Amino acid sequence: MTYARIAGTGGYLPQKVLTNSDLEKMVDTSDQWIQERTGIKKRHVAEEGETTCDLAEQASLRAIEAAGIDASEIDLIVMATTTADQVFPSTACLLQRRLGIRGCPAFDVQAVCTGFIYAVAVAEKFIKAGGIRNALVVGAETFSRIIDWTDRDTCVLFGDGAGAVVLQASDAAGIISTHLHADGEYKDLLQVPAGISNGYAQVREGNAFTEMRGNEVFKIAVTTLGRIVDETLEANNMQKSDVDWLIPHQANIRIINATARKLKIPMDQVVVTVGEHGNTSAASVPLALDVAVRDGRIKRGETLLMEAFGGGFTWGSVLLTY
Ligand code: UT7
Repeated sequence: MTYARIAGTGGYLPQKVLTNSDLEKMVDTSDQWIQERTGIKKRHVAEEGETTCDLAEQASLRAIEAAGIDASEIDLIVMATTTADQVFPSTACLLQRRLGIRGCPAFDVQAVCTGFIYAVAVAEKFIKAGGIRNALVVGAETFSRIIDWTDRDTCVLFGDGAGAVVLQASDAAGIISTHLHADGEYKDLLQVPAGISNGYAQVREGNAFTEMRGNEVFKIAVTTLGRIVDETLEANNMQKSDVDWLIPHQANIRIINATARKLKIPMDQVVVTVGEHGNTSAASVPLALDVAVRDGRIKRGETLLMEAFGGGFTWGSVLLTY
């Protein structure tokens, strides 16, 4: 049986840091409120002119190096992003060019904060179907571009960054199962209403911003993430105690705590980066994975559960042997 296994990980954060005290000078908020309600201390923000593809390129180079392959050996690029550099070509194609690769399929996936989970699931299916040996899967965002920096309800929550993995065809165990869901009925709770065919003027003028009914999103996120954990374990006849590491989407420490409690997994087996990164949307899970792989916490052979929830609503999970 062919598995898709993670051969290497990479992450990249823009240099510029925005702390809670910086935000205190911009909107009516406090470091205490932000930390108590979200767990966030700081977030990284792209400089003017720094794009999603710039961040994705750095994360990808690190993942390719960690996998011990040459960029020319990549035969599929799947990029999860909500904040594409251009209307077209896709950011995956722009990244392909930066990496000096030609000819392999490259496309974007849009599932907002669940984007990386979707992208991994798609790439895994390509690998299992045969013909693809090395897939570069990236979650990258410059979410700061779609934030109204005068809106305290949203501007304290998000940050920019990129994470990447090389998924490799392997006889040894890798991804065990993937679980994807969406429900467009919830579109109004978390959205950027303007788009290409709807309010393009706002996009051009730079007024296309994230709107969120935070409290309602919070409650649905907590119950939905609990359910996806159960669904994933039941599908594989596994127990909660079989999971070595939970790598959750990093939106709010209170959501992460609630999911860990449900899983009965101690917090020292949960990778938490929300304090330093904020919510980086599609980049949050691969960035957290990369941090814990590089600092030596996550080891080969361990069982990882990655999960995410975001706009759409979309939600999903990936269970794997690292
Ligand atoms: O990644 C995709 C998924 N996204 C999420 O999962 C985010 C889910 N939502 C959340 O994380 C939380 O709902 C928030 C962090 C957004 C908000 O926390 P909350 O505990 O749900 O607060 P709230 O919206 O109920 O607001 C409580 C109070 C309000 O004041 P009143 O009405 O009680 O006087 C807000 O106006 O906090 C106020 N508030 C703030 N105060 C200081 C809202 N934002 C701020 C702020 N600073 N930045």
